[in-house]
Amino acid sequence: MRQLRLIERPAWKALVAHQRRVGRCHLREMFAADALRGERMVAEGADLYLDYSKNRVTDETMALLQQLARECGVAGRIEAMFSGESINSTEQRAALHVALRAPPGERIVSGGADVVPQVQAVLARMASFAESVRSGAWRGHDGRTIRNIINIGIGGSDLGPVMLYEALRHYSRRDLHFGFVSNVDPADLAEATRGLDPGETLFIVCSKTFKTLETLTNAQAARAWCLAHFRDEAAVKRHFVAVSTNAQGVARFGIDPANIFGFWDWVGGRYSTDSAIGLSTMVAVGEEHFRAMLAGFHAMDQHFRHAPAQHNLPLLMALLAVWNTNFLGVESVAVLPYAHYLKRFPAYLQQLTMESNGKHVTRAGAPVGVATAPIYWGEPGTNGQHSFYQLLHQGTRLVACDLIAFCQQLDPPGDQHDMLMANLLAQTEALAFGSVSDPQQPWRDCAGNRPTSTILAPRLTPHTLGQLIALYEHSVFVQGVIWDIDSFDQWGVELGKVLAQRIIAELAPHEAAPVLSHDSSTNNLIRRYREQRTQRQA
Ligand code: F6P
Repeated sequence: MRQLRLIERPAWKALVAHQRRVGRCHLREMFAADALRGERMVAEGADLYLDYSKNRVTDETMALLQQLARECGVAGRIEAMFSGESINSTEQRAALHVALRAPPGERIVSGGADVVPQVQAVLARMASFAESVRSGAWRGHDGRTIRNIINIGIGGSDLGPVMLYEALRHYSRRDLHFGFVSNVDPADLAEATRGLDPGETLFIVCSKTFKTLETLTNAQAARAWCLAHFRDEAAVKRHFVAVSTNAQGVARFGIDPANIFGFWDWVGGRYSTDSAIGLSTMVAVGEEHFRAMLAGFHAMDQHFRHAPAQHNLPLLMALLAVWNTNFLGVESVAVLPYAHYLKRFPAYLQQLTMESNGKHVTRAGAPVGVATAPIYWGEPGTNGQHSFYQLLHQGTRLVACDLIAFCQQLDPPGDQHDMLMANLLAQTEALAFGSVSDPQQPWRDCAGNRPTSTILAPRLTPHTLGQLIALYEHSVFVQGVIWDIDSFDQWGVELGKVLAQRIIAELAPHEAAPVLSHDSSTNNLIRRYREQRTQRQA
């Protein structure tokens, strides 16, 4: 029998009809009609608390969304992911990031082998390496200890490490300096190495494929920077380590095979921050904190796999995202951490959400037929309040917001944290309920009825951070299941890479400039660049 398209499913049709009835209902009315709404529309998983009562949903909306999840086979797909099935269908591989945080002794089979012992073996090697750097036992080429650690990578091999480092800075070694280089713009590496002593600097080159243009270019430039100082190839072994699935590529670069930390093709780049890609984090915070973070990821994995649907945080967040996107016309989600340490979390989520679900065809290759991933963006509160919140409150677009906060302050006592939290609470109130309008002063009018979800945890720890990341990973997965897309491939990024390779050759200095055969705009831009580049050098 032909599989029903999403818009043909009974629950979808019921949601369309339901939206016509409740879509215009204001949150003011919903709260007025139900005194316990704010206590009922909440869920807890591990240490995270989700208040979704300020979304424009009723109990019936949630019941229909749950029915949609059942009709789309979400439960079965969750089991398929956890049991290592080849759910990344276009690349014919498993998406087994849950194995990265499985405790020793758990059995997860992929390709006929239990992968947990392999994961644990790499973790043990990471721990021993991290400890040697932290203790000073690891020496540079001229015998000095390492004080600077620079991660070179891009996409998942950068956004994960830098987000984790910033998020866990409170727990990190303050006498070690960490830098992150991703952009092929030479300014990135130049600024990251400015003033550093090569003899005290260690590069961690992170690339799943070890083929990515930006990372290999930066790694070569860093190598040249190091060798300009040492003038001895042997220095590479003491100042470069790598994290990759491509051991041969790394060895060709000259990195000692003993200093390659591996992972597996069943770990997607944007799902890799808790693999060896997190090596810089382990050096920063130590093995114990890193393992606590993995335990946090695992706690959310367990919650996702076993908690009943009505209380399942990733499932609820995914269903709300589908409702907001497909039934309320929300096109973007602002991620607003009221925790400055999470300042890179929105950037990290951009890759996780948009590279995963920014897709237009189903797994079978048919048009999805409805909107998929909204645009994710954000800044920490309260900074954003003085920049783009105006649009959230009074703009013509409906933006859904995720507000994230921790109840306990990490840094010295005082009432500053209360101010931060008061601002978060005020914003969720203002966005939901707006202000009473004065027809004489419409410019003051805040209509409210803007959907927000609030995520609270007791304290920002490695453990709660792991839970938070896994919450979003699994929410993204469920959204992909509902839209019936492959959340684990990224074919859309390939075209630009191929075209760039061709243009790189055309920009190289030639005696006679090559004939250009692009469109008139690209040809013209290339000519102008060539011209002005030469003028600047003259
Ligand atoms: O171009 C997209 C991408 O493939 C991401 O999915 C990935 O995280 C990034 O590039 C980096 O890839 P690699 O780790 O193989 O260098």
